[in-house]
Amino acid sequence: MSDLAAPHILALTAYEPGKPEDELKRELGIDNVVKLASNENPYGPSPKAIEALSRGSLQLHRYPDPSGHDLRQALAVHHGISAEELCLGNGSNELIDLICRVVATRGEHAVFGSPSFPCYRIGSVAQELRFTAVPLRDHVHWSVDDLLEAVIPETKLLFVSNPNNPTGSYIAKGELARLLRSLPERVLAVIDEAYFEYVDAEDFAPSTELRETRERLAILRTFSKAYGLAALRVGYAIGTPELVTTLNRLRAPFNVGTPGQVAALAALTDPAHLRTSVEATVHDRAKLAKALETTGLQVAPSQANFLLVDVQRPGRAIYEALLHEGVIVRAMPAPLESSIRVTVGKPEENERFLQALQRVLRESRV
Ligand SMILES: Cc1ncc(COP(=O)(O)O)c(C=O)c1O
Repeated sequence: MSDLAAPHILALTAYEPGKPEDELKRELGIDNVVKLASNENPYGPSPKAIEALSRGSLQLHRYPDPSGHDLRQALAVHHGISAEELCLGNGSNELIDLICRVVATRGEHAVFGSPSFPCYRIGSVAQELRFTAVPLRDHVHWSVDDLLEAVIPETKLLFVSNPNNPTGSYIAKGELARLLRSLPERVLAVIDEAYFEYVDAEDFAPSTELRETRERLAILRTFSKAYGLAALRVGYAIGTPELVTTLNRLRAPFNVGTPGQVAALAALTDPAHLRTSVEATVHDRAKLAKALETTGLQVAPSQANFLLVDVQRPGRAIYEALLHEGVIVRAMPAPLESSIRVTVGKPEENERFLQALQRVLRESRV
């Protein structure tokens, strides 16, 4: 084994992002590509965000505001909290990593679900934490009891993606409150709500409503999904001022660029745009799920902007065959080898995916 890096880093498998459209165009010479692989908002950001970016006064030769003052103030008003309870990140992904580095140390322990967002594992391994990846029931459903059972005296961190990537499943308000109340005091509960805008289940509550249940709580939000600003890399954490000042000790200077700060601020002023694109996606999520089920495939009930589809064949082969149709989805690692994850796109993109999938299945190319 190479000695370039520490063995625990060399043992890591890098996070595999969704294939970029341009890469597929280059590789297969396909012009008309539909990307449904990274749970982006197909409708894009608010025109107000684009206008704010093009105003031409961004002072690109200057470093960004290191504290993100204006955006944090606007988020504080948005949430009815103080700016001292907010920490900005270069996407919420940076905050996952930062939290692992700041809160836990080698030999301590983290708990997260499996399957869930891979960066909880990567952040834990990078910090040489021990971890328990708690299997979701039937690979889909959360069990708060299972999560609590995985907690040991060394546990410092618990990550829950709510709703969960890649299953779309969620923990309802009562169960989430029970989890937050039952965890030992020393544990920081990290509730990652990257997709919460897409939830329409009545028994769901964002953890911002449950802050009084627990002091050690970090809530992660992002502008990458429903706000349609994935390219700009803006996320944030809500937590106690103590947590925020502690995160700031290791937060990289100028971690969120000026374009991201300016566009996110403008996006916050356009709730109507957010609502319209979320409503369209929630509507089309049900429609797409129904069409897939009519094809005889099993779809996990989703509260996010994607669907986990059991294709009852090797998912990677379906993924490859779909690439040749110009449609990019996501193949899933074990234990979901027979599933693919597809982002809910615009109606015409969903239709293109459905037809391509039906062709691939019909022609038994897989
Ligand atoms: C559950 C979850 N959390 C966090 C992220 C990271 O998002 P970002 O870094 O763009 O804010 C993702 C991205 O796919 C995600 O699925």
